[in-house]
Amino acid sequence: MVPAMALLPLDPDQLLTTTRAVRKRLDFTRPVDDELIRECVAAAMQSPSGSNNMSMQFVIVRNAAKRAAIGELYAKCYAQYRTWDGAYVRSIKKATEAEQAQQQRVGDSADYLGDHMGEAPVLVIACSQGGRVDGAPAIGAASTMGNVLPAMWSFMLAARARGLGTAWTTMHLLVEREVADIVGIPFDSVQQACLSPLAHTIGTDFKPAGRPAPDTIIHWDQW
Ligand SMILES: Cc1cc2nc3c(=O)[nH]c(=O)nc-3n(C[C@H](O)[C@H](O)[C@H](O)COP(=O)(O)O)c2cc1C
Repeated sequence: MVPAMALLPLDPDQLLTTTRAVRKRLDFTRPVDDELIRECVAAAMQSPSGSNNMSMQFVIVRNAAKRAAIGELYAKCYAQYRTWDGAYVRSIKKATEAEQAQQQRVGDSADYLGDHMGEAPVLVIACSQGGRVDGAPAIGAASTMGNVLPAMWSFMLAARARGLGTAWTTMHLLVEREVADIVGIPFDSVQQACLSPLAHTIGTDFKPAGRPAPDTIIHWDQW
């Protein structure tokens, strides 16, 4: 694959550790070339899938009226999320002052996207075709979601390499059927997994985020 534009000079670890949720640094004024989106999808399709039965699907929303309609629904869902004590990003208490400050910065950023989702030049809805997770046994739900989640993350990494920003969101799943209707997704057989804005980023200098040490979440040989 010959990329439509020069990739950012990031080594694999830099790409993996600097692909942030971009919200305030999305350039809403600059269009995104379709060819760049095709390249991100091509990278995404190299991700794993159960039985090698690639069921990931990407709905790429460029139409302004559809983006605005999805943005409005996202804002409504986000307003609901803000009332969820213990789940809303700002209501989660962190152990240190630095972590608490970081949490509030994420809150500012997430609140901003709550108001501006529909202004991104492109919205990406990552879906899994062939079934829904509603009431499915763990193996079915994990397979349905597993067939699209790695693909979407690959899409986001490929986007970052091309100077494009994304932000993983799931809030709209509160009104998944309404979003499905806006873009004609067959709700009964297609599971949506993630909605992301897609735009060129304002600057490309993203940094690794503060995270706990690996040993805080590794269970060597035994939980
Ligand atoms: C399952 C999942 C759901 C998320 N939902 C939302 C969302 O609805 N809205 C939003 O602004 N960010 C959402 N995020 C993004 C997280 O806030 C973000 O990944 C986290 O704060 C770390 O950000 P960073 O990678 O930029 O450090 C979601 C992330 C995941 C993995």
